[in-house]
Amino acid sequence: MYGISTVGIGKTYGSFRAVDSLTFNVKSGDIFGLIGPNGAGKTTTMRMLCGTLSPTTGTAFIAGYDIAKENIRIKKIIGFLPESTGFYNWMSGEEYLYYFARLYDIEEPIARKKVRDLLDRVGLAGRAFAPVAYYSRGMKQRLALARSLINDPKILFLDEPTLGMDPRGQQEIQKMLSDLNLEDGVTIFLSTHALTDVSTFCNRIGILNHGKLIACGSLNDLRNLLNDSTSIFVRILRNQETASRLAHPPFKITIDNVTEDSVDMIISDENIELDEVIDWMRKQNLKFTELRQQKMNLDEIFFRLTKPSNDKDSTLITVNKSRSPQVGQSSSRL
Ligand SMILES: Nc1ncnc2c1ncn2[C@@H]1O[C@H](COP(=O)(O)OP(=O)(O)O)[C@@H](O)[C@H]1O
Ligand SMILES: [Mg+2]
Repeated sequence: MYGISTVGIGKTYGSFRAVDSLTFNVKSGDIFGLIGPNGAGKTTTMRMLCGTLSPTTGTAFIAGYDIAKENIRIKKIIGFLPESTGFYNWMSGEEYLYYFARLYDIEEPIARKKVRDLLDRVGLAGRAFAPVAYYSRGMKQRLALARSLINDPKILFLDEPTLGMDPRGQQEIQKMLSDLNLEDGVTIFLSTHALTDVSTFCNRIGILNHGKLIACGSLNDLRNLLNDSTSIFVRILRNQETASRLAHPPFKITIDNVTEDSVDMIISDENIELDEVIDWMRKQNLKFTELRQQKMNLDEIFFRLTKPSNDKDSTLITVNKSRSPQVGQSSSRL
């Protein structure tokens, strides 16, 4: 069964379509990352799925329950870390969590233990009795995360969970979420701008732009969408003969960067093997200091797919493989 399944879900404000008819599935046990520029509709989507905003079109099912009809059931099995959380600043972190535990009807001794465990889990045990007013932004975010876990959710929605956290904090939270997913099988649906984290942490990724889901799948699915075949990066030592030796290569090369002593190039022919490149360089007496296969990373995919259509500098962000200068032109730069 799908953890989350949406059917044409959308939200309009007047004539403005903030979220435009999204249909996608997230399997139970997935870690799904929703990414997109500011204003793309991530928060709106998440709020509709969590029942804090009603959709104008379509619907969604959370663990099989219809968000339009079974909101109360859904609330019991999900946790939600919203974009911004309101706190009662006079309460301590411990009091705040205990208050929410009681809202979920968790009995006192169990609630006390749960609160202690959660404060420990999110790294706030040492500040449990300080008023929330004295918490830093990162600490408040940890407290909000603990709050979203108070009912042992099966599905966790996190709207920019690591916003405002220092790099160590981000790493700790990611580890914690990873453990929740691996050990307790919690399905995670998160939005973030930390693309490097998404590519290592999420097994599926959705890209939202102007309210539309423009791509959805694993990182490899997204690469395939852009017809990204693997390319090879080579750095060779530069000397007076380099230009003539590069004049007639047997495959398509793109000169990427030239310095006083080195030339970087990208070989982007399909099905090219590293061995063939090495053989050719040996024959040409070209000495290399680096050689590696490279795949398009999520940043490149993201920028290519969400590029504004009138972007004059778009060539700067297209990946190397799409640039295919004639070899003659390349050599003239050497
Ligand atoms: N209550 C509202 N009234 C009108 N427009 C809204 C409202 N809430 C959000 N929007 C608009 O909807 C779009 C999507 O917003 P949001 O979901 O917050 O984007 P994201 O989280 O991806 O940055 C934005 O253009 C935003 O200005
Ligand atoms: Mg948002």
